[in-house]
Amino acid sequence: MTQKLLFVCLGNICRSPSAEGIMNHLLQQEQLTHAFQCDSAGTSSYHIGAAPDRRMAAAGLRQGIVLTGNSRQVQLDDFASFDWILAMDRHNYTDLLALNPDSQNASKIHMMCNFCTTHTDKEVPDPYYGGPSGFDYVIDLLLDACSGLLEHIQQQ
Ligand code: 4NP
Repeated sequence: MTQKLLFVCLGNICRSPSAEGIMNHLLQQEQLTHAFQCDSAGTSSYHIGAAPDRRMAAAGLRQGIVLTGNSRQVQLDDFASFDWILAMDRHNYTDLLALNPDSQNASKIHMMCNFCTTHTDKEVPDPYYGGPSGFDYVIDLLLDACSGLLEHIQQQ
C-alpha cells in the first residue's frame, strides 16, 4: 500500500520542501517511488503560492537535491489523507496537534528529528533569518532524518 508522507514547517518554503525533495531523492535512489507519495505544507499562510526559497534551493543543489513545488497551507483533510505527518520543530508539532480535527489521527503526527540516527538535534532549526551555513545544515540534518524515517517505515 502506498505510504503518504506530509512534511510540515511554518512557511513551506525552506525546511518542508527540502524534506520532500530529499525524501523523493532517496526514494529514487532506492527504486521505491511506486510505494510512496510525498508532499509538504506550512502551518502559516505567509508564503502561499511561493516557490522554495532561493537560498534553500541553492543549498539543496549543492547536495544534488532539487526542490520543487509551491507553498500551500496545511488543510484539515490532510490529517485523514496522509499516513505520516512530520513536523520540523516543536511549534509546528503543537500547531498540528491543535489543528487536527480527529484525535484518531493524532498518532500520525511526529517530530521529524525523532528519525535521525546520527544527529542529536530535537528540531530542524528555522534557517530563514540566518546565513548560508544554516541552509546547508538543514539539508544535512534532513538527509539523516529522511533516511531514518524511510528505514523506520520499511521495517513496519
Ligand atoms: P520554513 O522557513 O518554515 O522552513 O519555510 C520560514 C519561512 C518564512 C518565515 C519563517 C520561516 N517567515 O517568517 O516568513
